[in-house]
Amino acid sequence: MALSSVWDRDIERVLLSRVEIDHLTTRIAALLDRDYAKAERVLLLGILKGSVVFMGDLMKKMTIPVEIDFMKVSSYTSGTESSGRINILLDLNRRDLSMCDVIVIEDIIDSGRTLSYLVDYLKLNGAHSVRTCTLLDKPSRRVVDFTPDYVGTLIPDEFVVGYGLDYAEQYRTLPYIGILKPEIYTKKK
Ligand code: PRP
Repeated sequence: MALSSVWDRDIERVLLSRVEIDHLTTRIAALLDRDYAKAERVLLLGILKGSVVFMGDLMKKMTIPVEIDFMKVSSYTSGTESSGRINILLDLNRRDLSMCDVIVIEDIIDSGRTLSYLVDYLKLNGAHSVRTCTLLDKPSRRVVDFTPDYVGTLIPDEFVVGYGLDYAEQYRTLPYIGILKPEIYTKKK
């Protein structure tokens, strides 16, 4: 692989190349186009920040009209353990939610807590329908029982970065998804 970023040197190996990601986004866009062809108001809801790159590519490949919006959430951690509590940092502020078929867009599902919480939250707030879409799914890390509606691909429990995914806010701009060298996250801790 040609060097595309100074961050390439921190990558142990490429898990998904640009071309492989492109195929995944094309397939999901076609499924969404088909499934929402008759919907009146489709809302792609990106969860900041990781979903931004995936959602940007996905929306450009879709041919049906969609609106976009964003939320930002965080999960509390104490030490290395996640408490499971989700905190909304940026809320959705729409009066027309009851008319919206919401598709929540994520870069990755890990424990499942974020999407599980958001689906309940959006339904409680009256969304017309709510489905979930993630580029990556790590089912081996699940803590709550949650199955997304649209999945790009399942991945093993590796520390992945790039294409929106970060380590300490770095690597999000890499155009591919790579496995980070362990010395990067062990030396910085
Ligand atoms: C990541 C990812 C999801 C969440 C998934 O976000 O984008 O939102 O974690 O984890 P879960 O299934 O265990 O809830 P993160 O909190 O790293 O924030 P970021 O998107 O800003 O990087």
